[in-house]
Amino acid sequence: MKAKKGAILALTLCMASQILCACANQSGAASDKIHIGVTYYNQSDTFLNGLLEGFRQELETLKKDDLELTMTVRDAAGSQRTQNDQVKELIDAGCSVLCVNLVDRAEPSEIIDLARDNDVPIIFFNREPVAEDLMQWEKLYYVGAYAEQSGIMQGELAAEAIQSDDTIDRNKDGKIQYVVLEGEAGHQDAIIRTENAVDTLKNSGIELEKLSYQIANWNRAQAQNRMEQLVSQYHDEIELVLANNDDMALGAIDAYKKLNYTESTLPVFFGIDGTDVGLQAIVDDDMWGSVYNDKEGQAEAMAKLAVAVITGDGMNELDFEKERCIYLSYSKVTRENVEDYIKYSGEGAAE
Ligand code: BGC
Ligand code: CA
Repeated sequence: MKAKKGAILALTLCMASQILCACANQSGAASDKIHIGVTYYNQSDTFLNGLLEGFRQELETLKKDDLELTMTVRDAAGSQRTQNDQVKELIDAGCSVLCVNLVDRAEPSEIIDLARDNDVPIIFFNREPVAEDLMQWEKLYYVGAYAEQSGIMQGELAAEAIQSDDTIDRNKDGKIQYVVLEGEAGHQDAIIRTENAVDTLKNSGIELEKLSYQIANWNRAQAQNRMEQLVSQYHDEIELVLANNDDMALGAIDAYKKLNYTESTLPVFFGIDGTDVGLQAIVDDDMWGSVYNDKEGQAEAMAKLAVAVITGDGMNELDFEKERCIYLSYSKVTRENVEDYIKYSGEGAAE
């Protein structure tokens, strides 16, 4: 009798473990294939194209025999409505996780509702939703960087330049006449970068005279256009150009080149991002410095998070702040260390 009971118990255990195995296999099979849907605000953005290239490479390195990773990328072409449709289409196409670079960072609700209804987690990146929106559902994440930090670093770089080179104050009036080229209104990286850069300069004891602020929407051609207008207005009065990103600093440099300005009447230019073209401008001595926006780090965090939210593996290796946000640090790029950054960004590309 006792023996029979034992046999039944063994059989039951065996069946239970078979069921367990079947479940494990099933979840294993589900996490074997991760299809990632990406949509970003505009395909002409230099920084984001670099970031997404890094993301693609990062996914390659995470692929394993039992882990298939695929991705589909959509360009929202500056329209939130288009992006909402793309999210729907990506979910319908079977994406298990979404990476969303919002067109309008204040309008994520429709996307969040779609994702929640279909239980598809979202990793927002680069364009940060407000905290209340991220609280709408526990499967919403953000990967980016702290805007204040980039502004402070840009201000420090400009202060170091001005303090070490008295020819920057060309008219010798003890003040630095400056203009700012700003990114899109409403973007967390526009106004916050400007405010922090200017405050840092002032706190370093530098006297400033603001000549003008112009919005150029992160865009090189728009920045060139704005800068040509500014130069026609202020001629060689401008001593410093603070741009919210490298592309706009490069656009400003393009304007001066087009107008045939000579070295002695050029202002100093500062950008943010350290894009490949930005780093090259530092090597060429066209741009004094930039602040590295760690696209490789952001791409890595996004890729690991995309895998972790589906498989559950690697979640505790990620460095979360505010529960579900990951912020990569900025760092300063100058003529002295630019080669290190060229190597860092090139290593990603070579992999
Ligand atoms: C980058 C810009 C970019 C923008 C796009 C910023 O963080 O510095 O270069 O155009 O993000 O959202
Ligand atoms: Ca001056």
